[in-house]
Amino acid sequence: MKYSISSKIRLNSGVAIPMLGLGTWRAEGKECTQAILWAFEAGYRHIDTAAYYGNEEAVGKAIQDSGLDREEIFVTTKVWNDDHGYDNTIKACNNSLKRLNLDYIDLYLIHWPVSGRRIETWKALEKLLNDGKARTIGVSNFMTSHLEELLPNVEILPAINQIEFNPYQYQKGLHQYCLMKYIQLEAFAPIVRARKFDDPKLLELCKIYDKKPAQILLRWAIQHDIIVIPKSVHKDRIIENSMIFDFEISDDDMTILDGFNEDYSILMWNPKKDPQFK
Ligand SMILES: NC(=O)c1ccc[n+]([C@@H]2O[C@H](COP(=O)([O-])OP(=O)(O)OC[C@H]3O[C@@H](n4cnc5c(N)ncnc54)[C@H](OP(=O)(O)O)[C@@H]3O)[C@@H](O)[C@H]2O)c1
Repeated sequence: MKYSISSKIRLNSGVAIPMLGLGTWRAEGKECTQAILWAFEAGYRHIDTAAYYGNEEAVGKAIQDSGLDREEIFVTTKVWNDDHGYDNTIKACNNSLKRLNLDYIDLYLIHWPVSGRRIETWKALEKLLNDGKARTIGVSNFMTSHLEELLPNVEILPAINQIEFNPYQYQKGLHQYCLMKYIQLEAFAPIVRARKFDDPKLLELCKIYDKKPAQILLRWAIQHDIIVIPKSVHKDRIIENSMIFDFEISDDDMTILDGFNEDYSILMWNPKKDPQFK
């Protein structure tokens, strides 16, 4: 069987990231802390947050309450759009560290490719890495054009690009470009926010594998060697989303899932078209 719940992928920075993480967008306060503790119990060791989510304190509390060693846990957070620019980004990272109650972040990302400011922001991420505030650095919502602009200007390559990625938003071209540049893809909205769970094509595959829609969608990404960060605040769903390492989707069914693409997006902003990301 390819991969297990403790599988990690080694990034171009040498840092290893767990393939399964817990998303936390719209998980707040005690609910967020509890969800993370359930996730740790289920075997997750990777948490995805962002300054914008307003839940970094709750994430920090879960880490403290878990009793796990810091090195066992992988924490991602992100610099928000209003904090772009060199000095602002350094400040934003220090503020995230304070809220998380951590000495370092495992992965620090540029949340969105804000027009005109993203290269300066990247320089700050390089500084944060060199200062030991971040173990590895990357980007999010960067399309090929954004990467083509950024890469000639970096001293340290982005290790990750976190993007919307699932069979209904199969960004194959961007995936291939990132593979070529040794940038690992990480899938957000990997289960399409549960919005496609009644698609008969998907339900057909659920029958074949005796698995839930979320599990088929997550396993599809895993078999494309992509990191997944499904979000849930419900214990049963957190467990369900982790039970994706005991089956394998056949090559033929992977091809069927690849064909689900309809450029469907859960996002408010389109990073491919929105002028603020030009
Ligand atoms: N970089 C970015 O710009 C960006 C953008 C979006 C998201 N993200 C990150 O990626 C994470 C995941 O993406 P997402 O939260 O947008 O979408 P998602 O993980 O595809 O879906 C989460 C939604 O599905 C529900 N759900 C979870 N597991 C389920 C299951 N097994 N059965 C039925 N429903 C289930 C959750 O509800 P309950 O919580 O009520 O269970 C929640 O409403 C985020 O939480 C965030 O950390 C990053």
